[in-house]
Amino acid sequence: MSHASTLFAGKHALVTGGAGFIGSHIADALVEAGATVTIVDNLSTGFAAFVNPKARFEKIDLLDTTALDAAMKGQDFVFHLAANADIKDGLLHPRKDIEQNVVATQNVLEAMRANGVSKIAFSSTGSVYGEPEVFPTPENAPFPVQTSLYAASKVCGEGLLSAYAGGYGFSAWIFRFVSILGPRYTHGHVFDFWRKLSADPSKLAILGNGKQLKSYCHVEDCVEAIMTTIAKSESATRVHVHNIGRPDMLEVNQSVGWICETLGVTPELVYSGGERGWVGDSPKILLATERLEKLGWKPRHTLHDSVLATLRFLRENPWVADRS
Ligand SMILES: NC(=O)c1ccc[n+]([C@@H]2O[C@H](COP(=O)([O-])OP(=O)(O)OC[C@H]3O[C@@H](n4cnc5c(N)ncnc54)[C@H](O)[C@@H]3O)[C@@H](O)[C@H]2O)c1
Repeated sequence: MSHASTLFAGKHALVTGGAGFIGSHIADALVEAGATVTIVDNLSTGFAAFVNPKARFEKIDLLDTTALDAAMKGQDFVFHLAANADIKDGLLHPRKDIEQNVVATQNVLEAMRANGVSKIAFSSTGSVYGEPEVFPTPENAPFPVQTSLYAASKVCGEGLLSAYAGGYGFSAWIFRFVSILGPRYTHGHVFDFWRKLSADPSKLAILGNGKQLKSYCHVEDCVEAIMTTIAKSESATRVHVHNIGRPDMLEVNQSVGWICETLGVTPELVYSGGERGWVGDSPKILLATERLEKLGWKPRHTLHDSVLATLRFLRENPWVADRS
């Protein structure tokens, strides 16, 4: 029996962002586990095609507190995945991260409080560590300086969950993800490179010097990590913080090589230069995952598998690029 089945069979679970990349995989796992699943999503970056047909779908914006409150009735557990997940362009619209990631998160917590729902899993990010001094970066590393509005808004979200846990007796599971790859991936470097190369295979613009080193994780490993953690965390603790990642990193240039090889193209590589791809880009990300591994979780997909699985999905589903 899977961890998700042990936990969620016969339960009601609400997934915000359940039409998005990671949230749709969470919703699938919950449906598979025998939960009654409600997906709340405004389809701003998600797709109706990703919504599990056995879930109830509510097209709701999390800033609409009345609709959110109605959807929350009768739920046992909330997976809060909805967010503005775009780090790079945060400075172009500085209120967006605050509205979508901070205000929306508090709206979710208030709807829970109003309906007597007290268990929540939250998708934070490894970007909260900014440019850390320690690699692999453990959960208890300090992060005094934020380098993006996105990460700042996720720190705020984590803070709200902790305060609701302390103040109102919520149980909160906070997950700090590295970049996630796999089927239904619709943003990030593999998507950008695939889209650019599909439009013009003779040239590829790369942000930074291509030497950025980042860790990635396959979405199936990510979902399994979340379910394992919730199943095995100590019930006495109200706030659980876990990194989700892999023990290795991938240089952007190496990823470019795999992508070009798979697509059968040999473009001229044009670098924008510098160690960082954009203001706030972290040139190195490697998260410590011992806390997760102690619970018995291990990633099953290699970095190579994960990049190729992502490309396979994009090539089979080119329509996902239409809206971008
Ligand atoms: N993908 C990654 O590599 C990664 C890494 C670290 C953290 N995360 C976090 O994981 C979560 C899921 O990311 P993703 O990659 O699946 O992104 P995504 O954009 O595919 O999914 C987000 C979903 O939330 C929905 N949404 C956004 N704002 C909403 C609102 N106001 N009301 C209702 N729905 C709304 C979108 O329509 C979309 O379906 C996010 O919280 C993101 O910050 C993702």
